[in-house]
Amino acid sequence: MKTTTDILSLPRRPRRLRRFAALRDLVAESEIRLSHLVQGHFVLPGVGRVEDISSLPGIRRLSVDELVKTVAKDLENGVKSVMLFGVPSQKDADATLATDPHGEVPLAVAALKKEFGDDLVVMADVCLCPYTDHGHCGFVEGKEIVNDASVDTLADMALILAQAGADFVCPSDMMDGRIGQIRNRLDESGFTQTGILAYSAKYASSFYGPFREAAGSAPSFGDRSSYQMDWRNRREALREVQLDLEEGADLVMVKPALSYLDVISDVAEISDVPVVAYNVSGEFAMVKLAAREGLADEEAMTKEILGSIRRAGADLIVTYHASQAAQEGWLKP
Ligand code: PBG
Repeated sequence: MKTTTDILSLPRRPRRLRRFAALRDLVAESEIRLSHLVQGHFVLPGVGRVEDISSLPGIRRLSVDELVKTVAKDLENGVKSVMLFGVPSQKDADATLATDPHGEVPLAVAALKKEFGDDLVVMADVCLCPYTDHGHCGFVEGKEIVNDASVDTLADMALILAQAGADFVCPSDMMDGRIGQIRNRLDESGFTQTGILAYSAKYASSFYGPFREAAGSAPSFGDRSSYQMDWRNRREALREVQLDLEEGADLVMVKPALSYLDVISDVAEISDVPVVAYNVSGEFAMVKLAAREGLADEEAMTKEILGSIRRAGADLIVTYHASQAAQEGWLKP
């Protein structure tokens, strides 16, 4: 190794700020805290039910009683926010169970708010795809996914979740005009304090595969390209966000996260409400599989991924890694 050499004349040496960990921490431009993370959960009807999900290692479908136990543990570890998805017992063309006030998700919302009150932020997905027999996010007429009739039922579903006590209803369907309709429906019934997390820029993505297995919500024909966004588009995301803001969104989301960091960054520039990013099932599964094969250090990779999403401009992140990060102390200061 060469140890003596001419000293370069460099007044600016970026490495001076990277010399040791305390100094790097001092000048770090962004950070991830557990309080920024929302854990996703799949809710089953019935009691005492716990099902592994092969596509999402470590994540399980849970009945309400089991969910309450799991969330209690997470809360002790510092995860203070959850997003709920239903896995109903039956599906039909009318998505009948989407508006069942005794469905697994309204029951879960009520149980969690009863048990944990305002220690926990409860968010619930609003979409028809887990409840329709064809698996589309809206009603189907012929080959068309119809917009306005779907919006009406989505607003009913949102109201039922608000009545159960949800802090945020989260429409992920991508029908036009649903944010405004949901806001009206909630306000008319006095739920002026129930928030709307709008899945504003939700792309038709190949990264949702594991979720669709978990929720049994894969479309039985066609795909979601006539309602979810085309991944070739960037500017269009701003139009979607703008509309949702005008219609009353309290939080706007970009989804997926990792292949859409440019979009997150653009949205963060224009949004005057907090920006959410969804680190989706396929992104989670890739890390899990790489770690299982010994190709990745799961903790380091997850922190880098979540960190990049924060750095791009997201304020909060929905991720299946929140519980594990909390339990294993990945985000300790
Ligand atoms: C329902 C919905 C989906 C996801 C969240 N809500 C699936 C889809 O649009 O097919 C995906 C989440 C994930 O992949 O983690 N519309």
